[in-house]
Amino acid sequence: MQTIRSTNQLREQIAIWRSEKYRISFVPTMGNLHAGHLALVKQAQQISDRVVVSIFVNPMQFGEGEDYQNYPHTQNEDSQKLQAMGVDFLFMPDVSVIYPAGVENTTRVEVPDVSDGLCNDFRPGHFTGVATVVARLFNLVQPDFAVFGSKDYQQLAVIRKMVSELCFPIQIEAVETVREADGLAMSSRNQYLDRSQRETAPELYRALNQMADVLRGGGRDYAAIEKNTLHTLEKAGFSPDYVSIREKSTLALPKRDIQTGWVILAAARLGKARLIDNLEVSFS
Ligand code: PAF
Repeated sequence: MQTIRSTNQLREQIAIWRSEKYRISFVPTMGNLHAGHLALVKQAQQISDRVVVSIFVNPMQFGEGEDYQNYPHTQNEDSQKLQAMGVDFLFMPDVSVIYPAGVENTTRVEVPDVSDGLCNDFRPGHFTGVATVVARLFNLVQPDFAVFGSKDYQQLAVIRKMVSELCFPIQIEAVETVREADGLAMSSRNQYLDRSQRETAPELYRALNQMADVLRGGGRDYAAIEKNTLHTLEKAGFSPDYVSIREKSTLALPKRDIQTGWVILAAARLGKARLIDNLEVSFS
């Protein structure tokens, strides 16, 4: 595996692969890799000839008071994991490579509508930061495929809309959330949990499953179902940001006669960790 930091080196290698007609997949990450990330890499390897992984902790997607300064940097371990998987290229740019004009002065990508509400209400500007860095990385890597995890459901919707509306010739692949044995969605931020919080954390996924049962059983009073879950989570020790039942295909608030199935999305704080999760519910 080759590790590079400069865009020139990246472009040179991509040009060689292109001339050899290789299909290229790209997996953007912020590092601190766990089994969820490695599942993205595996998927990338299955659908293409060459795989580029990036590790870049993107300052633009962190808000004031968030964990940008403390975000775990584990580059040696990450690099070993990717090497063991046979990744071709690890791109690890510095902030000045991605934002030569500085983070404040740079061109930004706004993706309206799907960016609104849910996480954006609690992390304003977050999705502009994500869309901006992903657009920039897409232009540098120029992959055929880009692979993302479904845990970040709203992020995935934002990226799909951006790719479609800015005409990026890239196919977006979504990989199912990888979970611990007790159901907790894998996340770099799970390491902020102490022992007792770690025991509580799977309650979030359990609560989503209970909501899914209510929907499948014919429950349609969405506001009441959400309120009930907020209460359950608070009782378990979480400070929930939101629990929201949405239409699966659009993330719009669901109508009573919804046809496409639902997705239930939630974000809740537990100690220093902010956990997010979601569950798609189809008609059975
Ligand atoms: O999901 C993430 O890890 C980040 O939001 C991403 C897509 C790498 C952009 O910084």
